[in-house]
Amino acid sequence: MLISQQMNDRLNDQINFEQYSSHTYLAMSAAFEKMGLKVFADYYRKHADEEREHAMKMFDYVVDAGGTVVIKAIDEPKGDWNSVEKIVQQTLEHEILVTKRINDLVELAEQEKDYATRSFLQWYVDEQVEEVSTAEQLLTLVKMAGDNILYLEHRISQMA
Ligand SMILES: [Fe+2]
Ligand SMILES: [Fe+2]
Repeated sequence: MLISQQMNDRLNDQINFEQYSSHTYLAMSAAFEKMGLKVFADYYRKHADEEREHAMKMFDYVVDAGGTVVIKAIDEPKGDWNSVEKIVQQTLEHEILVTKRINDLVELAEQEKDYATRSFLQWYVDEQVEEVSTAEQLLTLVKMAGDNILYLEHRISQMA
């Protein structure tokens, strides 16, 4: 096995957290469907798919490294599903939390001199820059648009 037991466990936790992210964005997509905001709903549904890909990329890495993938229960997403602004605010906070979790994994890899995992994690480090930046842009747009939700849908369709 190329990785320590501790790293294996922490990667399994992150696989679970990426799945939880996927679950959360899917719940948000459902909330947007309920509001009749189709463009938002599609955007979040795609984001949910991307989070599952993040989980699977890590799944494959654990297998390649000779570790053991353990799939655990996914927490139920929680949030205020009635407000566009609150959902987008929660998205930003969530991506900041993911970034912190990835940074913690990088720190562990460096402590363990596990350069294979450190290199693998760089993709996630770069991805998080994109994710946080996009969520910030989205929140700025939502705040600017106020009640003009249709304008917002138009802008989101250009971002996607
Ligand atoms: Fe992710
Ligand atoms: Fe993400």
